[in-house]
Amino acid sequence: MTILGIETSCDETSAAVVRDGRLLSNVTRPQLFHAAYGGVVPELASRAHQQLIIPIVDRALSDAGVTQEELDGVAAVYGPGLIGSILVGLSFGKALAYGRGIPFVGVNHMEAHIVSNFIEPPHPGYPFVNLTVSGGHTQLVLVTAPLKYEVLGGARDDAAGEAFDKVAKLLGLEYPGGPAIDKLARKGDPNAIQFPRPYLDTDSYEFSFSGLKTSVLYYLRDARFDRESASRDEIFVNNVCASFQSAVVDVLVDKLVRAAKTFRVADIAVAGGVSANSALREALAEAAANNGLKLFIPKFEYCTDNGAMVAMAGYLKFVQGTSSSLELTAIPNLALS
Ligand code: KG4
Ligand code: ZN
Repeated sequence: MTILGIETSCDETSAAVVRDGRLLSNVTRPQLFHAAYGGVVPELASRAHQQLIIPIVDRALSDAGVTQEELDGVAAVYGPGLIGSILVGLSFGKALAYGRGIPFVGVNHMEAHIVSNFIEPPHPGYPFVNLTVSGGHTQLVLVTAPLKYEVLGGARDDAAGEAFDKVAKLLGLEYPGGPAIDKLARKGDPNAIQFPRPYLDTDSYEFSFSGLKTSVLYYLRDARFDRESASRDEIFVNNVCASFQSAVVDVLVDKLVRAAKTFRVADIAVAGGVSANSALREALAEAAANNGLKLFIPKFEYCTDNGAMVAMAGYLKFVQGTSSSLELTAIPNLALS
């Protein structure tokens, strides 16, 4: 069974081919021009998807050595994400399936992130707890069986990656801010400033990072920090980065491990762009070792938004006999159920 997967929910245009559960190609084009605006501009994102969708799909097919005639099904993300962006990949995927007379299946973007742990071995065993941390989402999910989810908690306000990006902006660092903060934090002291650990003292699996971001804002204001002359305050900036990052990491790791213990699972998994963070990876590895848990993190190219996770999720759905009507529409706030 040969499946094409399409991802266009935010600012990456990506397509991939999976055959019988094995990834044959994965072609991703990030839209780097958004950096000039300090964040993703939805209208520009959807226009760029329109320009890129045909060349990216063609490239995914040619890299896989597969022709359109050999496809048995098409999968595309139908939410959550930016409506204009989702519509490009979804409409293209449905049209291709209709034109070729093959089935189509819609994929939830958050489900695809979880499935990114199954693109390459080793895979987590069921049940496991997955933490998806990206620019748009922070979500803790108990995965009980293939494609069966129980959402434990999510972001009440800013997602983890969004908090990284906003704090980076306060510090005058480039967009996206996660990698920039990660790099400077390595030279800073994580204990220099005691920023709050939101929701750490409750049993809830919800996340809230906007208060932490505001604490950083107040700290910078009280210190009369001027982001135009940030380069002169190297130690100060490094310490803010390390201390902020440490607060985010503490919350993410604590809640993931707590969920694993509560639901008595042996395996934990992480997905999404923030899982590239070096401090998070170190803390997760240490927490997993200390608690007898097995940790799974996909390769970086499968952590950020990609077609491979969509193609694999689509493949698993087709194998289970699931497909979607061509009337399926984009749902920007689609929940995982
Ligand atoms: O999954 P992703 O590529 O796109 C979304 O679906 O949002 O995640 C992008 C997010 C951005 O907020 C970016 O700042 C963050 O992931 N990120 C990082 C790191 N690399 C990317 N955050 C912290 N540390 C990193 N090394
Ligand atoms: Zn994503």
